[in-house]
Amino acid sequence: MPIFVRDNCFVLETPHTHYAFGVADGELQHIHWGEKCPRLDYTVPNYREEVSQHPASEFDKREYVPFGGTNYRECALKCTFSDGCRDTVLQYDSYTLKDDTLTVICKDRHYPLTVKLIYQVQEDSDVLTRSAEIVNTGNSDITLHKAASAQLHLPSRAPYTVLNFNGSWSTEFRKAEEVLTGGSVVFESRRGLTGHCQNPSVVFSQNATEDEGDVFFAALGFSGNFKISAERNFTGLTHAVIGLQDFDFSYTLHAGESFKTPPVYMGYTKGFAAMSHEMHRFAVEHILPVRFKNEPLPVLYNSWEATEFDVNEKDQLRLAKIAASLGCELFVMDDGWFGERKDDHAGLGDWFVNREKFPNGLKPLIDGVRALGMKFGIWVEPEMVSPDSDLYRKHPDWAYHYPTRKGNELRWQLVLNFTRQDVQDYIFTCLDELLTENDISYIKWDMNRPFSETGAENLENPQELWYRHTHALYSVVDRLRAKHPDVQFEACASGGGRVDFGAMHHFDMVWTSDNTDPVDRLVIQNGYSYLYPIKCMRAWVTDMNRTSRPTSLDYRFNVSMQGSLSLGGNLLEYTDEELKTCAKYIALYKELRPLVQFGKLYRLTNGRADRISMTQYVDKNRENSVLFVCTQPTTFFADRFVTIRLKGLCPDAMYRVQSSGEEFTASGGVLMHCGFHAKFTHAFASEIYRIKKLPEAQG
Ligand code: GLA
Repeated sequence: MPIFVRDNCFVLETPHTHYAFGVADGELQHIHWGEKCPRLDYTVPNYREEVSQHPASEFDKREYVPFGGTNYRECALKCTFSDGCRDTVLQYDSYTLKDDTLTVICKDRHYPLTVKLIYQVQEDSDVLTRSAEIVNTGNSDITLHKAASAQLHLPSRAPYTVLNFNGSWSTEFRKAEEVLTGGSVVFESRRGLTGHCQNPSVVFSQNATEDEGDVFFAALGFSGNFKISAERNFTGLTHAVIGLQDFDFSYTLHAGESFKTPPVYMGYTKGFAAMSHEMHRFAVEHILPVRFKNEPLPVLYNSWEATEFDVNEKDQLRLAKIAASLGCELFVMDDGWFGERKDDHAGLGDWFVNREKFPNGLKPLIDGVRALGMKFGIWVEPEMVSPDSDLYRKHPDWAYHYPTRKGNELRWQLVLNFTRQDVQDYIFTCLDELLTENDISYIKWDMNRPFSETGAENLENPQELWYRHTHALYSVVDRLRAKHPDVQFEACASGGGRVDFGAMHHFDMVWTSDNTDPVDRLVIQNGYSYLYPIKCMRAWVTDMNRTSRPTSLDYRFNVSMQGSLSLGGNLLEYTDEELKTCAKYIALYKELRPLVQFGKLYRLTNGRADRISMTQYVDKNRENSVLFVCTQPTTFFADRFVTIRLKGLCPDAMYRVQSSGEEFTASGGVLMHCGFHAKFTHAFASEIYRIKKLPEAQG
């Protein structure tokens, strides 16, 4: 059992770390998070300092700080009790220990409020899962204004570098780093969905590189409004609160009801590479939906960039024939097949086949795709409605709205009020019929705008919608999955607007970005790779920027093969030579796929600052590895020469290294420490190195 309870201390043990906290004066105080102290001789520190302007509460490390009293820091919990009191005083009460889960129970000193802090450990991982449950054990309402999933305390009083992944539509996952010397920093979404701007994750590090230094990370499993606030106070202590957004949020806990926060996945590692390895493996083993978690994802073709809304049976089949001949395993028809959907001005909500475009329904197209040996997938955007749609004309009140306000139509669409059961049932029925009547194996679930005018007359407390919408989304997806267990689901929100571990608990993969330019994509993929599993990272080879920034097909494949390879270009315009190139790389990817989708990823270079991108994958037994190299624009003679030092191999074993132009053998030790020489003479050059361990006898 990796959870120990000693005297007044709780210790969560993972293979390499300890997380410890204890009880002092009836309060839960954090003790330690980091490397293991094998003797477990932890004691609860005594922080009892106080001066007139700085009460004792500013010196300590409480596990879960409520609003009230002298708590001036960002709190984890804020409530209003029925008599108007907004002051919460939590006291340790008891704990339960069941298998891998420790639940620590705290109660308010006066009011009927119980807070359960839930900690989960897996024997095979350094990632802990935390969440909280707030229970109203009394007879009158309690209003929650904030209910975070966890409060984190970092061990050192020296400043930490705080890393988040920032961006915008088409520019997801840019690394944003700053040293937090004083004050606070907040990463959040107020948009109703995770969004592209900030990711619900945070990494704190000190003197860290890929291979060493202290790295503490946490990621929230939720696809709606979130808030992560980190603060370094005057004593040098850094702490953070991570969970649901409190902006415009409240939740009414009726007598006897409880509120569960989303989970936070958190861990401590030496270096960023170990963090990625831990989180990638944990996500596949413990977060992803079970059905497909251990299966490599199919190579898909998506029609969006080729045809946009102009879809019909004949043209889709022409594309499908080529895609199948190249080795694609799944054909996904994107937007445009339903309602009066000629462009993005109409049709969302009318999830019925457009009979002008498909006079005989979808069956002939799907049969055609199946006859070509591929599975068939389809695009939907179920949380949306176009004002120009039959659904909206019939049910204008189904969109979030205020009767006195005109709704902001972003992309000519409004957000459906998913907190209504009738809306959920309508969407479930439409999609259930679509899946029942057609041989569809894949749903791309899109979400193309943030919320606005968030009136929800159906809710007694409309401020609950931020929480309820996301859970309603999960619930509809889960219902569909239960009824159609062999269908795979992709989460998309104008590209990477829903990349988070909440989505990854209900969807099998994500669409990483609408930006499929390979040079930009290297940066986006690099940022994504820090926490999120490579398997889930859909990566299309397309023709984006083909004329403005031409890159070879080899280069484009090289970039997309670093994730879950997909195609999205207009294959009808490809030359025979180009089609041959596609087929060659798809075949190669199928060989490499288990290694890429399930291997350990090593970032040999890092993002835009480097003039070359080198990403290596190594399998579990350190027998097979692949290295993808892509150069960036450069004109300097001296920049042509590169020493490539691999990672993750067995130092004693011999390996064969094969690229397009050469083949040689060397020991893992030499390949990792001494490295090998390579020369790239032009911008946007690319190379794939395959590294294979030789049998002992040959070594
Ligand atoms: C979003 C998605 C794209 C595509 C379009 C269709 O932008 O990210 O991949 O599906 O919608 O309208």
